[in-house]
Amino acid sequence: MKTLIVYYSAYRKNTEKIAECMAGQFCGDLVHAKDYNENDVNNYDLVGFGSGVYNQKMHPSIFKAIEKSNLQNKNTFVFSTSAVGIKKYNNDAIKLLLDKNAKVVGSFSCRGFFTTKILDIFGGTAKGHPNNVDFKNAEKFAEKIMNEI
Ligand SMILES: Cc1cc2nc3c(=O)[nH]c(=O)nc-3n(C[C@H](O)[C@H](O)[C@H](O)COP(=O)(O)O)c2cc1C
Repeated sequence: MKTLIVYYSAYRKNTEKIAECMAGQFCGDLVHAKDYNENDVNNYDLVGFGSGVYNQKMHPSIFKAIEKSNLQNKNTFVFSTSAVGIKKYNNDAIKLLLDKNAKVVGSFSCRGFFTTKILDIFGGTAKGHPNNVDFKNAEKFAEKIMNEI
């Protein structure tokens, strides 16, 4: 099963670390959303879309990548890293994938370090994330998908 992971990671490379971890588990390929070409997906059986969360949303480049790709009946999954680490941030991308008639086979999220001048006083939030537990969870997530499709 050939896997491609399209990701956007700008702040601390938190999402890139998770994307690399999943790509390792899938023995898949990685492409940053800014280098993504819509024909890339044609060579793959499974495509993951991942991003950091910026002001409650995954990065627009991920939505653009989904929008311009032919994902009809393609197995896909969504992942994100954010200060709070909730899966809810994946929902807009999942909805767009379903609108494109893709099959969404998984959704993953974890926390990613974030700080501001004020948060710095407390050492930021989600300090140390993604950490080894997050990487283990990302590997388990990839393994589950591989077993299910
Ligand atoms: C400008 C900005 C806005 C952010 N907004 C949110 C947010 O709305 N909710 C949240 O949980 N985390 C938010 N974060 C934290 C990031 O989602 C988190 O640090 C993420 O892991 C960054 O991923 P990256 O290093 O791959 O870019 C924000 C970070 C930045 C820099």
